[in-house]
Amino acid sequence: MRYGQGLLEEILRRTDLVQLVSRRVKLVRKGKVMWGCCPFHAEKSPSFKVENERRSYKCFGCGAGGDAFRWLMETEGLSFPEAVGRLADEAGIELPKWSGEDEAREQKKKSLYDVVEAAARFFAHELAAGHGASARAYLEQRGVNRATAAQFRLGYAPQGRSGLIDHLRELKIDPEDMVAAGLARPAEAGRPLRDFFFHRLMFPIQDGQGRVIGFGARALDPATKPKYLNTSDTVLFSKGQHLYNLAAARPAALKSGTVILAEGYMDVIALVRAGFAHAVAPLGTALTDDQLMLLWRLAAEPILAFDGDEAGRRAASRAAHLALPHLKPGQSLRFAFLPPGEDPDSLIAGNGPAAMRQRLDDAEPLVSVLWREQTEDKDFSTPERRAGLEKSLSDLVARMGDRSIAEHYRQAFRQKLAETFSPVQARQARAPSGPRTIRRGPPLPDYKRETVSAAVKNSAMARAGAARLVKEAEAMALLLEAPDLVLAHAELVAALPLTDAQLDRLRHELLNLAASGIRLEKPGLQHHFERSGLAELVQRLAARRMIGAVAAEQVPDGVSARQGGTADVEEIEKRWLAAAAQLRLLADLGPERARALDRFNREPSEENWRDLQRLVQASQRQEP
Ligand code: UTP
Ligand code: MN
Repeated sequence: MRYGQGLLEEILRRTDLVQLVSRRVKLVRKGKVMWGCCPFHAEKSPSFKVENERRSYKCFGCGAGGDAFRWLMETEGLSFPEAVGRLADEAGIELPKWSGEDEAREQKKKSLYDVVEAAARFFAHELAAGHGASARAYLEQRGVNRATAAQFRLGYAPQGRSGLIDHLRELKIDPEDMVAAGLARPAEAGRPLRDFFFHRLMFPIQDGQGRVIGFGARALDPATKPKYLNTSDTVLFSKGQHLYNLAAARPAALKSGTVILAEGYMDVIALVRAGFAHAVAPLGTALTDDQLMLLWRLAAEPILAFDGDEAGRRAASRAAHLALPHLKPGQSLRFAFLPPGEDPDSLIAGNGPAAMRQRLDDAEPLVSVLWREQTEDKDFSTPERRAGLEKSLSDLVARMGDRSIAEHYRQAFRQKLAETFSPVQARQARAPSGPRTIRRGPPLPDYKRETVSAAVKNSAMARAGAARLVKEAEAMALLLEAPDLVLAHAELVAALPLTDAQLDRLRHELLNLAASGIRLEKPGLQHHFERSGLAELVQRLAARRMIGAVAAEQVPDGVSARQGGTADVEEIEKRWLAAAAQLRLLADLGPERARALDRFNREPSEENWRDLQRLVQASQRQEP
């Protein structure tokens, strides 16, 4: 009986622990926590708590505690599999059957590892001593010495059609297993069983645990096509689910807090030799979702290195788009573009490790790659084309899974649009000029350098003090200036993380009014606020004179071409969305997460990373 961690978590997620425990213990609510008298020892006053949010119970008297599985094991004497079965049943989750067939497949998989390992040894031996003279010469010409070849377990698949097969036969390996491991092509139509790889330089590909599962193989003869041949998918190997050099790169990646994704095997080898031990590569296909996830388990912002030419740009765009649905606070990508025609291997060979270092340091954040992709070398001389650009930018934002990230991108794109298409106005808005200028919040970050994680860190510091309260008041004041926004952004308004109870009441009042279909007009609203005792608060907020300030900005030297009330609302909306996004970021970084982030930054161990991830995920689960 073996179940994946994901399945067990799903069962716990769908289990109402409070309800389960209530069947035996009378519980009383205090806030988010339920309390009762501990069933595991005799007591009169309750020191036993149950929390659905944490999915755990705990007794402060006797120390008993655990999750729903443990509860059933302790109170009903079930075994672990029985407890899993019971709760899965109640949650309506069907458990996969562990059959004899599965057992056989597991066994087969185990023996295939040995087959592939034997092949890796054979190839390495051929390179070192056997028929590998041409491969040795090739490596020497590419500047790969023997130590490096050994480190990466490089090998040589000999000429002929049965070098490996003959060797594996001697080891009493079943031909069927050779085929299953992707090492031999089956006999067919009068042709005998034959080697899959011949006369190629072999790059063993390892899984996350360092077990060899397949090979990349480079042709030694320039006329041979394809240049690289990879093991086709087998029980062990699936090219979209692994990364070259992952196991070896992991410690260095966790230590340095970053990981580099190059395009080719030779690039990884060159990078590692040049001191970038945290380098990996996909396996001959465009980057997949699974590979992205692997990268994010190593670092918050993997750096993807691409050739600076057209093909490299296209590959970067593809990777950028792949990432959109998975972006989270502190989980993004950066892009290092190399000079056209160069890959890390050729750059390092030609210009040395420092040139590579520079490119990595100059890596562009995702936002700038997306912006460039949409705008570079394009003509926006007509309103229709500009509208088209706005549309494609908002389509990108729409594909972002995380709401706070989406808000930040929307804001960043708006600012870039403003800077690009109305430079005078944008510059004026940013210049501090006397008391009548509107407050714009923090200065526009320089997106060339600023990274998501840097933004997260900065806001962790800003969290201290009144910054958050000020933002909350600003957000609500803006809604009062343009009450139509309440309906237009009802979901966002409802989700606004307000800590101030008064502002929260005001929010509820506004949402209720909007939901009841009453047209939110300022004079009528005033009346409502008076009746609900919110008039004083509203007055204080109005004293911030948001709209007056907006109008004032446009008047003095008549630069702005905007007319009428709609432009004001647009301006307010822009600022409201910005305030909402900032609030979200401030709120997302609870003190616990800020501390975890700090711990991880000081000591980027796997354990600290897991803690941080757990808190990030927990905070996302709590979102409505
Ligand atoms: P490149 O063509 O950029 O080659 O392929 P490279 O890594 O610079 O190789 P060298 O320097 O000429 O030896 C990059 C990666 O794309 C995959 C391989 O994984 C390769 O490492 N690829 C390339 C294939 O799978 N098949 C091919 O025919 C070519
Ligand atoms: Mn190359």
